[in-house]
Parts: sequence; C-alpha cells; structure tokens
Amino acid sequence: MIDKIYQLKEEKNAVILAHNYQPAEIQKIADFVGDSLELCIKAKETDADIIVFCGVDFMAETAKILNPEKTVLLPEIKNTQCPMAHQLPKETILKYKERYKAPLVVYINTTAETKAYADIICTSANAPKVVESLDSDIVLFGPDKNLAYYVKKETKKEVIPIPEDGGCYVHQKFTLEDVKRAKKEHDAILLVHPECNPEIQEEADYILSTSGMVKKVLELDNKKFIIGTEIGLIDRIKLELEKKGLEKELIPLNKNAICNEMKQITLEKLYNALKEEKYKVELNREIMDKARVAIERMLNL
Ligand code: 13P
Ligand code: SF4
Repeated sequence: MIDKIYQLKEEKNAVILAHNYQPAEIQKIADFVGDSLELCIKAKETDADIIVFCGVDFMAETAKILNPEKTVLLPEIKNTQCPMAHQLPKETILKYKERYKAPLVVYINTTAETKAYADIICTSANAPKVVESLDSDIVLFGPDKNLAYYVKKETKKEVIPIPEDGGCYVHQKFTLEDVKRAKKEHDAILLVHPECNPEIQEEADYILSTSGMVKKVLELDNKKFIIGTEIGLIDRIKLELEKKGLEKELIPLNKNAICNEMKQITLEKLYNALKEEKYKVELNREIMDKARVAIERMLNL
C-alpha cells in the first residue's frame, strides 16, 4: 500500500500534507506534517498539481482557498468535520458586528464562509500577534473562547469571544484532576494547547500550538513532558525524537483526549483518494476570494 501511494504520488505530481494529530502511519508517509499555520504556509508554497490533505475539513478548505485552481483532496468526508469549525455562523457574526463595530479575528478552525467575514485569520501559533497587529483596543474573536481567553491575557486588549461558549470537545476534556494526578505521578514539564480551559492554562509551564510543543520538547534539556493536547501529538513528537536519536518520556494529560475527526484517515483511504481523485474540495468562488484576503493578511504578518 505504501509503495503504491508513493508511485501514484509521483505519477500525479501530488503532495501529501498531514496534521500533527494524524495516525502515525499517515504522518510517516506524508511529505510534510505540521500545525495549522505551517500547513497553511506549505499549501500556499507548493507547486504540486494535487494536494492530498490528511486532516479535517477546515484544513483542506484552507488549502483550496489558497489554491483555487488546484485539486485538493480530503481522503474521507464522513466524520472529518471539526465540530468547532461550525460554531460561528454568519448570523452570530452579524449580530456581534452590529453591536460592537470592532474588527473580527477568526480562528483558522472555521468554515470558508466564516473566514469570508473575517478581517484577519489566526492560528494557535500566532493568535496574540495577530490581535496585537490590529489598530483597535477591542476585537471580536471566535469561535474558541479558551483561545480568546489566552489572547486577552497575552495582549491586554478587550477580546470579545463570539459565540460566548465556543470550543473544542477534545481540549475541554482536560480537568484539574488530570493535572493534579499527572503532576503527582511525574516530575515533568506541562505543555498545554490554548484550546484548553483557563484553569488548565493557568497550571501550564508553556501554552503552545501543536508544533510549538514539538519544538519545545526537542529544545529543552528536560526528559519528561506531560502533553496537554490530542494524543496523536505524542506520535509526532516520538517520530521527531527518533530522528534525532533522543529519548524522552511523554505522558498524555488524559489518554482519552482523542479527536475522532482526525482519526478517520487510513492508508487505504489515502491510496483510494490518490487513485480516484476523491474527495475533491469544492467551494463557492466568491466566498473563497473573500476568505483568501483574510488568510493572506495573516500570512503577510
Ligand atoms: P494547531 O494549529 O496547534 O495544530 O491546532 C489545530 C487544532 O485543531 C487543535 O485542536
Ligand atoms: Fe477540531 Fe478539536 Fe479536533 Fe482540533 S482537536 S480538529 S479543534 S475537534
């Protein structure tokens, strides 16, 4: 299966991009593995004719928005919708815009339509920097209220979360009990994602994007790390440690922190996607044109 995937990839001039949460066998075969920001940059730079995106819907859509003339494939369409990406509909945006008249910063974990209403896009790797760049003391920020909390703390701006209760079901699973147990059992550095609840963020040694965590584990001399994000990231870090011949202990903050939507892609589905050129991401051109402006503002920054 792996040989056949390589062969088809060559024949069709395709590139395989995979998110850090993808199953290990997908990460191993991908041309590039990264966080949302890195994948966005790779999608923009590629000269491949076909982009096969191993991730969730909004990631493949972002690749399509940046490459409207290319074929962008998501190897599975069933259950690959990030639930958070659908929590900020147009009606909510219009309601808040009417009330606040403030710029709207939209997390990359959103639909193309939501992005089309944004002044600028951000990811977990650059959210404070993006908000800081705006010439306004008050900003609307959605849909993740926990990322909004983190940004508010880092920037001291008035950050209004829209909707009030948006968030990721995987990162909201972490509890203070998890933190207490992990810290009691292990003398380790705690890394958490900014999608975690505020009380978990307060306990962290570092709050980072997924690739930020990979880099932190490689860069510090410490040997033990508690990983406060989706457990697929542990496979990613292990692969990087292996490449460098390093050994470190990685402890999941909660071993049930699994993103079901990220686990739908298999080698077989990846092979079928390349062979049959499915499932093609198709989006409205006008929406893509508007969304692209907001994404490129972030990339330029
Ligand atoms: P990163 O951009 O940090 O990889 O996060 C994406 C994501 O979906 C987190 O749940
Ligand atoms: Fe969406 Fe959460 Fe899965 Fe990330 S971990 S893709 S935010 S559901």
